[in-house]
Amino acid sequence: MLKRFWLWLGRLLGKTLVFLLVVGLGGWAIGAAYYSWKFSGPVSDEEQIPANEAAYTEGIIEDAIRVVEQHRDNTRVLRDAHAKAHGCVKAEVTVRADLEETLRQGVLSEPGKTWKAWVRLSNGNAYPQFDRARDARGMAIKLLDVPGDKLMSNPRHASEQDFVMFNHPAFFVRDVAEYRSNFAAQADGRKALAFFPSWDPRTWEVRHLIIALKTLSPAPSSPVETTYNSIAPFKLGPHNIKYRVIPTPENCPAYAIPKPNTDLPNFLRSALYQQLSLDRMPACFALQVQRQNPSYYMPIEDPSVEWDEKIAPFETVADIRLPAQDFDSTEQNLFCDNLSFNPWHALPEHRPIGGINRLRKAVYEAVSAYRHDRNAVLDQQ
Ligand code: HEM
Repeated sequence: MLKRFWLWLGRLLGKTLVFLLVVGLGGWAIGAAYYSWKFSGPVSDEEQIPANEAAYTEGIIEDAIRVVEQHRDNTRVLRDAHAKAHGCVKAEVTVRADLEETLRQGVLSEPGKTWKAWVRLSNGNAYPQFDRARDARGMAIKLLDVPGDKLMSNPRHASEQDFVMFNHPAFFVRDVAEYRSNFAAQADGRKALAFFPSWDPRTWEVRHLIIALKTLSPAPSSPVETTYNSIAPFKLGPHNIKYRVIPTPENCPAYAIPKPNTDLPNFLRSALYQQLSLDRMPACFALQVQRQNPSYYMPIEDPSVEWDEKIAPFETVADIRLPAQDFDSTEQNLFCDNLSFNPWHALPEHRPIGGINRLRKAVYEAVSAYRHDRNAVLDQQ
């Protein structure tokens, strides 16, 4: 009797497993077919601005300030995103000597030219947490003493060209409208529901949820050991491009990054300190661009879609070197906290494009101004 029961249970479990497998594979095949149909064909090579976009931006700024204040705990007011820095380090960015004529635009106009820069390396979260927590890792580069009129008129940033990236190639929302509803849900603590705004399955953003989960990835061994992506598109003179920064250890003297002790809360800062300050070894990267080919599905208005590297391969335009240096002092950490990076601190040749970039213009400026004002008051208390 007992034996028959176990056999029956075994068969039932086996059939359930096969059923789930077939449903899973079927769902995956339908999803793949749907997206290869939806994400095919030519796209516009110009921006297309939805009518309601500006209206959402004010609401997003209010939510961002709310998040900043939520995470303040008798501390200085930190950034709304990428609050924790592993360090701000000095860098040299050298334009490739053999750069193709048509890519010689903006700060890349002069082959062989070396720019002095600051590089801020960070975790993506809105409040500082242990480095071993799954998270995006950010890199922000600020080229200094860049001549020419910029897209933003703030005199504090008049001679800067910024590049702002994190280490996943796709963004977890497509446009400003989706960002508004997603971010509002997250700011209210409804994280899981952010991608399921209503009972109507047509509003569910399962693909974007998967991107968000993949974005929150385990830490690399060191901030110099991962690839940072612009994710959103930019102009490069006449071209529409995305850019990224890849590690190029082959361009630096050989150095084996020690295995990190991931029990330490700040092991990414420690790795940077070990390499640049203790071992006095530089770190090398390359800045690369990917040109849009609008005959294929490489949209400007949807940064949740990666541009296919097989169709539009990345091309190296500059080399980046972080020389051996001391960076981990109280003064430099405070200086780093007070820096503001913004993709719109840019020459017109590098204009940010697409809805998510248009949104960033107002939000970065507002949050930066807010935290600088609040900190100036706090510093005097
Ligand atoms: C392409 C997508 C994005 C990338 C690659 C990106 C990356 C980054 C990085 C690396 C930082 C830290 C910069 C630093 O070191 O100071 C940052 C800061 C920030 N990001 Fe983003 N981000 C993106 C989209 C957004 C969006 C859509 C928003 C909100 C609308 C946003 C809001 C902010 C804010 C408020 C800060 C802090 C600004 C400050 O206080 O100075 N980001 N982002």
